[in-house]
Amino acid sequence: MQRRTFLIKQRVLITGGAGFIGSFLTDALIEKGYNVSIFDNLEKQVHHGKKPPYINKKATLVRGDVRSYDSLKRAVLDADIVFHLAARVGVGQANYQIKDYVDTNIGGMANLLDIIVNEKTKVKKIIMTSSMTSYGEGMYSCSKHGKQKIRMRPDSQMITKQWELLCPTCKEILTPIPTPESAELQDNGIYSIGKHVQEQLLLFIGKMYRIPVVSLRLFNVYGPRQSLSNPYTGVAAIFISRLKNNRQPIVFEDGGQTRDFVSVHDVVNALLLAMENADADYSVFNIGSGKPTSVKTIATTLAKLLKKDITPSITNDGRKGDIRHCFADASKAEKILGWKPHVSFEEGMKEVVSWSEKEDARDIFERAAGELSEKKLMYE
Ligand code: UD1
Repeated sequence: MQRRTFLIKQRVLITGGAGFIGSFLTDALIEKGYNVSIFDNLEKQVHHGKKPPYINKKATLVRGDVRSYDSLKRAVLDADIVFHLAARVGVGQANYQIKDYVDTNIGGMANLLDIIVNEKTKVKKIIMTSSMTSYGEGMYSCSKHGKQKIRMRPDSQMITKQWELLCPTCKEILTPIPTPESAELQDNGIYSIGKHVQEQLLLFIGKMYRIPVVSLRLFNVYGPRQSLSNPYTGVAAIFISRLKNNRQPIVFEDGGQTRDFVSVHDVVNALLLAMENADADYSVFNIGSGKPTSVKTIATTLAKLLKKDITPSITNDGRKGDIRHCFADASKAEKILGWKPHVSFEEGMKEVVSWSEKEDARDIFERAAGELSEKKLMYE
């Protein structure tokens, strides 16, 4: 394996470094001796106007928005390595705040690349976090017709509440199998389009200007520091917030839909390996645990760990744009980056629950759910 050892004291810029992934990455880089600058707008929906207390004191925090060329430029001028993590993350919300998501997620990357190629910068590597959502549905297998990359479930199927994917030829229920990077991408919403386009922009400009770039396609990341008062965030944090407020987690479909939950610590490790390893350059990698867990299991596991006698409410209604199953084939990351997940689902969920006990959690889920209904983004 070819390693590029960056000289310690190199300056690393992390856009979105105040978020839960970025802040753990900051800690890890500082621990390794890097100088870290964080560029973050302290998004109101996530941080509620406050600087999070966990931000590493040794990092320089610059408050700014990736949509602003000038303020991002000031931060980039100083950087040797850039991790571009700044993004808006509500998968459902993205489908009705289209311009905002496009401006931040695609426009932010466009600004970053414009700055790097047009200004006097010294950036030697750019690493971004893209998303498994760009696959749409994951890979499936039919006992008679073999492996398939299937289209999203059509409206006509969703309204009959037939949640599982069916083989187009024989109508047998398909079995989900691991999804590799080579699987066809099939965007399932504005958020997924944003991550996909960002990845394309990065790879194209990286190759054209010979600036090493890497994109990590993250599966469902969870861990401490994820906002518990942001109803547009990932399902695990939403369920913790509901349970802490003694309310039932609301489970869409029948709860049998699965996701690949990967601990933030494993993700940070992958980001460091992607930075250090020149064999990773110009490539994309799946970063997931490789294990599917159902959404209903998330709800019941969290209730148990939080010692709440609360069962989830299964709505039997679908959210538009949701996929049913996708879990990672992360063998490329193992082979090239030497990456493997180390935190088991049980350990990781225990960690996040124990962290959450001391945290405030404002449950405003009903507002987010109401918006989806109002915009007709639910099959109900
Ligand atoms: C999530 C992340 C996305 C990331 C992607 C990578 C969020 C909001 N989404 O998308 O940023 O790129 O993983 O894999 O952080 N669900 C419920 N009840 C709820 C909320 C969700 O049943 O209250 C269900 C959804 O219908 C879905 C599943 O849980 O089936 C996961 O939803 P969500 O956490 O929003 O994530 P993804 O769409 O997988």
